[in-house]
Amino acid sequence: MKKIAVIFGTRPDTIKMAPIILELKKNPKQFQLLSIATAQHRQMLDQVLKVFNIKPDYDLNIMRPKQTLASITKNTIEALDTVFEKEKPDMVLVQGDTTTTFVGSLAAFYRQIPVGHVEAGLRTNDKANPFPEEINRRLTGAITELHFAPTSTAKKALLKENIDPQNIFITGNTVIDALKVAVKKNYKFSIMKLNELVKEKKKIILLTMHRRENWGEPMQGACNAVKKLSETYPDYNFVFPVHLNPIVREIVYPTLGNLKNVHLIEPLDYLDFVNLLSKSHLIITDSGGVQEEGPHFGIPILVLRKVTERPEAVKYGTVKLVGLDENKIYQTAQKLLNNKAAYEKMASSANPYGDGLSAKRTVQIIKNYFGLSKAEIKEFNP
Ligand code: UD1
Ligand code: UDP
Repeated sequence: MKKIAVIFGTRPDTIKMAPIILELKKNPKQFQLLSIATAQHRQMLDQVLKVFNIKPDYDLNIMRPKQTLASITKNTIEALDTVFEKEKPDMVLVQGDTTTTFVGSLAAFYRQIPVGHVEAGLRTNDKANPFPEEINRRLTGAITELHFAPTSTAKKALLKENIDPQNIFITGNTVIDALKVAVKKNYKFSIMKLNELVKEKKKIILLTMHRRENWGEPMQGACNAVKKLSETYPDYNFVFPVHLNPIVREIVYPTLGNLKNVHLIEPLDYLDFVNLLSKSHLIITDSGGVQEEGPHFGIPILVLRKVTERPEAVKYGTVKLVGLDENKIYQTAQKLLNNKAAYEKMASSANPYGDGLSAKRTVQIIKNYFGLSKAEIKEFNP
């Protein structure tokens, strides 16, 4: 019996870790699950925990309003170390690129516990974009023992960094495992307004923004572009679940708050969000996870970033990197909304990120690592 500590703390790493938690629970004779929430996010984490019915064994409750990177790091590392000292896990799993991810791996390293990194190998090779996530990933990668790469591109990036190929596995991304279970044809939204919006003739343009490197002027430019779009296209509904970060809200609400066809709403729970996403016409976002979810349904995405660590869907054509320039965002969206052929060219569903079996593969690889099984691993191959 091996004790596996699973660390999570924000909305995206918890959504993507949930399928692995559920899979570990299916193997109670081989694994003792120790789930640890740093709670780097609070309300947005609780929404995810509720949807997946996860009750953490430890909740470090570290979130503070307008927290700094240093304060998250400091509060998390000490609290995690105390848990590791008491529980002595055999392996620590972390996911993605948040401060929770990096600090989780560092705390494990200090206690000489092997780390498994879920969603390993995503790189832009630009320290400032995304900030600080590019560096969080590289530092986590340097500590990691088992690298669960979602795609062959991610594996190649790890090989370039001289990671032992025997420790890299192409698993696909667990975001697709979660998506396949969550999205239903006749889904009823928990929020009445969403049931009404999806019934309307007006098509939906879904928006999200939160990235640190976009705070201030770049985000203001993106919001100005959305304002102009909403005025040019009164026949579309713009739906924007606004991240709880006050720095984001201080830009979004004054710019977009009083427009008839722009619906600023609170962060949606995961089920409402992905079901709304699946019914949207166009997505404008700076999110990482949303860039992986949109292509699954063939929904064109304009990505508000200079570079992306997820180049696969750009290559397939479903995602366009539009940057943060107000005019470029406006003109690119305008072209898609005016020109059916341009829209159709982007709107083809692609599956570069997963097949729904990523958690199964990941847990099987962990079994093999501990000698609990010798099953052959069939890697994800889109
Ligand atoms: C964090 C991650 C980012 C990820 C994003 C997902 C880091 C450095 N950043 O960024 O990689 O893409 O989560 O959303 O790890 N807040 C609340 N309630 C919540 C969540 C946040 O009030 O449930 C507010 C708080 O004031 C908090 C602030 O948002 O201080 C920022 O949260 P933080 O986790 O530091 O950064 P994010 O921008 O959310
Ligand atoms: N999401 C959600 N509710 C929302 C917006 C997003 O549940 O109102 C989900 C979305 O389905 C995706 C994840 O949150 O799985 C993305 O999180 P976010 O954009 O905050 O972080 P990132 O992926 O950029 O790190």
